[in-house]
Amino acid sequence: QESPRIYTREEVKSHSSPETRIWVTLGSEVFDVTEFVGLHPGGPSKLMLAAGGPLEPFWALYGIHNQSHVREILAQYKIGELSPEEKASSTLKTSDPYADDPIRHPALKVNSQCPFNAEPPPELLTENYITPNPIFFTRNHLPVPNLDPDTYRLHIVGPPGGQSLSLSLDDLYQFPKHEITVTLQCAGNRRSEMSQLKEVKGLEWSTGAISTARWAGARLCDVLAQAGHQLCENEAHVCFEGLDSDPMGTAYGASIPLTRAMDPEAEVLLAYEMNGQPLPRDHGFPVRVVVPGVVGARHVKWLGKVSVEPEESYSHWQRRDYKGFSPSVDWDTVDFDSAPSIQELPVQSAITEPKDGEMIDSREVTVKGYAWSGGGRAVIRVDVSLDGGLTWQVAQLDGKEQRPGKAWAWRLWQLQAPVPAGEKELNIVCKAVDDSYNVQPDTVAPIWNLRGVLSNAWHRVHVWVAP
Ligand code: HEM
Ligand code: MTE
Repeated sequence: QESPRIYTREEVKSHSSPETRIWVTLGSEVFDVTEFVGLHPGGPSKLMLAAGGPLEPFWALYGIHNQSHVREILAQYKIGELSPEEKASSTLKTSDPYADDPIRHPALKVNSQCPFNAEPPPELLTENYITPNPIFFTRNHLPVPNLDPDTYRLHIVGPPGGQSLSLSLDDLYQFPKHEITVTLQCAGNRRSEMSQLKEVKGLEWSTGAISTARWAGARLCDVLAQAGHQLCENEAHVCFEGLDSDPMGTAYGASIPLTRAMDPEAEVLLAYEMNGQPLPRDHGFPVRVVVPGVVGARHVKWLGKVSVEPEESYSHWQRRDYKGFSPSVDWDTVDFDSAPSIQELPVQSAITEPKDGEMIDSREVTVKGYAWSGGGRAVIRVDVSLDGGLTWQVAQLDGKEQRPGKAWAWRLWQLQAPVPAGEKELNIVCKAVDDSYNVQPDTVAPIWNLRGVLSNAWHRVHVWVAP
């Protein structure tokens, strides 16, 4: 066996451009990844941040790399090792950007630790109409910033000729306090059902990337008006920037149309309270946007800046993600500019009880779940089938009816039904109808898309009947 070639850190460092080739290190191993740069799923520019140096500080930020298939890819490019002296001197004190993340509730089912992404288990999700803060699903793209409420300032960019505002929390409390119950759902909720059909790119969310809270804060329209903004005739967008950022300093960002932001009836909030408490750190402390009826991605947390722009936010998450495509579109053919960003979400429902694979009592079954639709459209009915969709029964909707056009929150529902005699197993299915008579598609295949978003086919659970 040949002994590996030995390099110094200086040598590695001199290989940090396509002309000199691109080298990186992991532990004591050295890799020439020039040929991989263009193939990197996270994009060439991200990989290039590590060119000529160690991967650890970047991989600590993107925990997605802690998988064997990623290590296998890297192994193909190995060219040698760092010299033993280098190893000793370089015991990297990588400051872990996630070290300061808050402590989380052990009941949460973690889909990714760094950044933190987790959902409540189904059996807890519909225990309460209002999701308790500690088990509210969490979707972070980056480390959680640790913001000081005393020095926190929210920057509102004024219109030309108007005034920009720099609002402290106390300033924000001076606006009329508005409180509403809003369900927040991630575009990736139920993605795992899409990936079962065919691979998609994204976190494996089950049915729990959805939760409901009472949110209180200032109305965005009041704050924008104070800065001198008005509804203009041209199409415009309100852009939000978070105070969480990646190693390049790029902040999380998203936007919504100005018409929605300025409409008092749309009730868009700059929220500082969640279920009567200050926002928990994972959910945007001290201030986040809440956009009722709209996909979670626009509810920007740790809000730092609000501006009105002629174009949508240029953020990756507005333009290169959170869009829907035909099942025929793949990563070679996708044109992100060809599809609008997701705003209002389609009608959705899922079964939270019983669980897939469970053994149920032979006499009676109780089926429970949630249903919700975007844009303030109310859920008017949930149909449940015990035989895979051949016959249906109407479930009982819990919770109170909501104001017309402002059904921002989910309805929980349940059905108690006798188990048909002689059945050994049941294929339980649910589907919801909203007040525009939108319904859910019966299967995943026709709505499958490469990013696994907008997964809202009939939800199906298979259970065994106790003998
Ligand atoms: C995703 C490999 C360097 C940022 C991925 C994936 C692979 C990969 C295989 C897809 C993982 C999956 O979906 O299961 C590598 C290799 C690298 C490298 C071999 C070094 C040679 C970097 C660096 C950064 C980075 C230095 C950041 C500064 C990302 C991001 C994603 C990703 C953000 C997620 C993309 C998405 O979710 O669409 N990488 N990576 N990578 N990588 Fe890397
Ligand atoms: N805001 C910031 N600043 N950073 C983020 O990573 N994630 C978005 C949105 N706002 C995100 C953000 C996404 S995709 C969703 S679904 C919701 O926050 C999730 O909110 P939650 O973690 O409070 O449930």
